[in-house]
Amino acid sequence: MDVGWLPGDGHMDPSTSRRPALVWGATGQAKVLKPMLAAAGFDVAAVCDRDTSADTPFPDAPIFYREADLLGWLSVQHDDAVSFVVAIGGAGGKDRLVLDRYLSELGLSVLTLVHDRAWVDPSASIGAGSQIAALAGIAVETRVGRQCIVNTGATIDHECRVGDGVHVMPGATVAGCVEIGPGATIGSNATVLPRVRIGEDAIVGAGAVVTGDVADGTVVVGVPARARVGGASSETPRPACTPWK
Ligand SMILES: CC(C)(COP(=O)(O)OP(=O)(O)OC[C@H]1O[C@@H](n2cnc3c(N)ncnc32)[C@H](O)[C@@H]1OP(=O)(O)O)[C@@H](O)C(=O)NCCC(=O)NCCS
Repeated sequence: MDVGWLPGDGHMDPSTSRRPALVWGATGQAKVLKPMLAAAGFDVAAVCDRDTSADTPFPDAPIFYREADLLGWLSVQHDDAVSFVVAIGGAGGKDRLVLDRYLSELGLSVLTLVHDRAWVDPSASIGAGSQIAALAGIAVETRVGRQCIVNTGATIDHECRVGDGVHVMPGATVAGCVEIGPGATIGSNATVLPRVRIGEDAIVGAGAVVTGDVADGTVVVGVPARARVGGASSETPRPACTPWK
């Protein structure tokens, strides 16, 4: 399997030599990215996760749970071209942006991954740090922001505007001319009808059919989608993290 590799400026790198990459996050999304990184010519050189109980899908690479350990490792790297990818899914889009800024400021290069079995129309654009998984589709003139995830089999059709830190989960269908605000999450197999606006940090539940605009920070579920009434939960929109908390 081959995957495309795009540096931050969006141009394909024809180089085939192996390069080191740091992966932030050691759970499900890291597993999704594992074959994509390998096929794109990256060796995982280190993993970070704030959760000390997190196991690693990269047993050959050290895993750091504390900032001091990461900084110590970085200080002895002789290769000054370490790239990074943030492997945090769910409603963690704003977290990906915080970590993107943090790791960039440490001198690492943001990595954009597009699976070889994904379709990205030549007129579409993919922001730095975004991950486009197998069988995903990005159609004509759609713009995907920075640190977005478009997961397995999800499609975003023509002329959409997708803000930074958005996650479109497996099998979701986003119709044409949809606007998705920064940090929003579109659940698995949800359908968003044409010209709808999904607000910043909104969450569309799995399987929902969104027929009208969704306000910022709102969780909607069902067919047709309606705001979910209820208390806070693991997936309710929440403030972005700081890198190590
Ligand atoms: C909508 C969603 C964000 C709500 O999460 P939550 O706040 O933790 O919700 P809970 O699991 O506490 O469920 C709360 C209620 O909403 C209902 N509910 C949850 N998700 C629902 C959905 N997608 N559609 C309809 N009802 C849903 C539950 O049945 C429950 O109903 P009840 O109070 O009558 O028992 C979440 O369920 C969801 O759909 N997330 C998308 C997950 C996904 O696609 N992941 C893919 C990862 S690869």
